[in-house]
Amino acid sequence: MHEFRYSKKDLLCEKLRIADLVARFQTPLYVYSYQTLIGHFLKLKDAFRQINPLVCYSVKANSNLAILKALVNKGAGLDIVSGGELFRALQAGCPPERIVYASVGKTDAEIEKAVRRKILFFNVESVAELENINRICGRLNRVSRVALRINPDVEPKTHKYITTGKLTSKFGVDFKCVQQILLLRNALPHVRIVGLHIHIGSQITDSVPFIAAIRKVIDFIGVLKKKGIVIEYLNIGGGMGITYNRETPQTAQEYARRVIPFFKKSGLKMILEPGRFIAGQAGVLVTKVLYVKQTPRKKFIIVDAGMNDLIRPSLYGAYHQILPLRATENRKADLEKVDVVGPICESGDFLAQERRLPKVKEGEYLAVMSAGAYGFSMASNYNSRLRCQEVMVVHDRVFTIRQRESLRDLTRHEIIPPFLLGK
Ligand code: LLP
Repeated sequence: MHEFRYSKKDLLCEKLRIADLVARFQTPLYVYSYQTLIGHFLKLKDAFRQINPLVCYSVKANSNLAILKALVNKGAGLDIVSGGELFRALQAGCPPERIVYASVGKTDAEIEKAVRRKILFFNVESVAELENINRICGRLNRVSRVALRINPDVEPKTHKYITTGKLTSKFGVDFKCVQQILLLRNALPHVRIVGLHIHIGSQITDSVPFIAAIRKVIDFIGVLKKKGIVIEYLNIGGGMGITYNRETPQTAQEYARRVIPFFKKSGLKMILEPGRFIAGQAGVLVTKVLYVKQTPRKKFIIVDAGMNDLIRPSLYGAYHQILPLRATENRKADLEKVDVVGPICESGDFLAQERRLPKVKEGEYLAVMSAGAYGFSMASNYNSRLRCQEVMVVHDRVFTIRQRESLRDLTRHEIIPPFLLGK
């Protein structure tokens, strides 16, 4: 399910030529395909339909209101990690009973807002946080549902920055601690522990670590049951990998086939929190070639998008395929090894290194593929660059879903104290 493809040598998003979008909206530009976004959500829903899970899209992957609204309209819940994401979720019209809230550092104000809005549950990451939620709910005279995030200590075989389920990471609590919490739960009358949660990392392409973690937790739930502690929900997190280059991640069907039996047997309600799987292939970042620069050692393609627009290559050494908007014959002899770099004053500002690309000329455009997840949502104003425009294509129509920032936006919140103005 991929709505970016060449037709008569032009790269299309759904029915529209991306070259036409660029002519109209300029670059850098994020272009999303509505069909690809929704298609991935439905693919996952369909794969798991036997057990009818609540699929809570992970807002952090791409938090644009239009993206959230599109998914919420199709029945998605949302996985949030801050008061800001709660605000977005509610603005997008997500029913609170479809919102789950993780994060190791929820503040009192954030907790209070979520309690008042009656979200489905908090994914609690420490004993101290659980006690705090209990205290806040006591003050508000409420009882909140919570799920305990377990750190199952499995190796997900992904980048260390996006590994979360090892005991050396800051996330979740270990099994022993969960057991102690559950035994002490009567001392916490304002929280009701209804579920367990795991999320072992992101961009995981192999099902083995997922299954290992789920098996550990299911076994643990069995032990709890014997002690009279009944768990209703198991939230298996997100983390499903996608193809950026040559990865062959497990498909939704394969994943479902292996996971469903655990749920059928246990009768647990399932929650999933995919971010990248839904949004990743649904977006591309389009950029213009500003200069081609040959140095004694390397050839640089200098483009108008930088690490402030897409930080994944710089931060994780991530690979994103780069395609010209106009297809070339791609004969081996025409390929040249280049670094595609942005205008930012950092050597780490690159979109690709040592990449074999068809010869490109100044003024041409390139599409950085699979940039729908953790692309714009991690964008910044570094080097006082304006965050770029985002558009969504639906068949043959295009909608702006975020305007390009203006110079005024850049300094909007800054204040020169009067004494510096000689007042
Ligand atoms: N649930 C929890 C608790 C999470 O922390 C995350 C992502 C997700 C769900 C969604 O994970 P996904 O399905 O998207 O893998 N910026 C990094 C990824 C960081 C992921 C953080 N947590 C990147 O660009 O690769």
